[in-house]
Amino acid sequence: NWSMSDFIDDQIKAIRAEVGDKKVLLGLSGGVDSSVVAALLNKAIGDQLVCIFVDHGLLRKNEADQVMDSLGKGLGVNIIKVDAHERFYADLKGVTDPEKKRKTIGRDFIEVFNEEASKLHGIDYLAQGTLYTDVVESGTDTAQTIKSHHNVGGLPEDLKFKLIEPLNKLFKDEARELGEKLGIPHELVWRQPFPGPGLGIRVLGEVTEEKLAIVRDSDAILREEIKKNGLDESIWQYFTVLPGFKSVGVMGDGRTYDYTIAIRAITSIDGMTADFARIDWDVLQKISARIVNEVGHINRVVYDITSKPPATVEWE
Ligand code: XMP
Repeated sequence: NWSMSDFIDDQIKAIRAEVGDKKVLLGLSGGVDSSVVAALLNKAIGDQLVCIFVDHGLLRKNEADQVMDSLGKGLGVNIIKVDAHERFYADLKGVTDPEKKRKTIGRDFIEVFNEEASKLHGIDYLAQGTLYTDVVESGTDTAQTIKSHHNVGGLPEDLKFKLIEPLNKLFKDEARELGEKLGIPHELVWRQPFPGPGLGIRVLGEVTEEKLAIVRDSDAILREEIKKNGLDESIWQYFTVLPGFKSVGVMGDGRTYDYTIAIRAITSIDGMTADFARIDWDVLQKISARIVNEVGHINRVVYDITSKPPATVEWE
């Protein structure tokens, strides 16, 4: 007779019993899992929880503020936000290979986290948002391996903490339900998947600030229109990609030579296989027009109609 309220009560008791008056550290990524752990631990031990939120400058539009507002201001979670975008941008300069980009971002993330963590004292525990599926599937799927590496790798051994993983018996949907029960806003908890390296792998090739802004702004328009048209619950993942080539267009009386934005929107169960979403032409037309009109340096929008396999969900 399992209920979410019982689960919360049991977890709170267990966490208090385990932690006592010690402090717990948590790396907030902005993603669902770590946000839910933050809300749960905050309820159990309040300010004995210290969260480090590394903003790598590769998050979606307003995402960092949204996390700070809903978790920090809204729930009163103790969060140290580290604005590290300059370091990430500097280290990504000249890096074009997708795997090298992932490694650079993952390494910087861990380094920044460790630097911040080493400034704190008297911390005995490290909490993580590991889910049941992360435990069972560890290492079988590439994205999963990359994800665990990006989110987890290096931390426990380097810093010698005891681990707390209160979600490791839950499936993703249960973690979302738990998050909502703990007061995290619905939109935040039911967000589509977002990769650890963020927009860094949606600007193909070298990441520049100009290109990041184009992807961030076009993605915001896409998300707004998808939501407005009630498609956000049925489309599994949707985002824009900047391939980085230029093509000829015409605007007013003049010829343009500007970038193309690709829209990727897929239906899927688990991201392992996927099909492109059959979005209504009129909705796509509106999105296309808005992106060209509202985002600078775009004169063409294309829709990705490949399934996975043979393509992957992300373009890098
Ligand atoms: P692919 O592109 O491999 O994506 O078909 C499958 C799912 O995994 C996500 N993905 C990642 N998630 N770090 C992550 O945390 C990564 O490096 C990464 N690469 C892909 C992708 O967004 C999709 O949901």
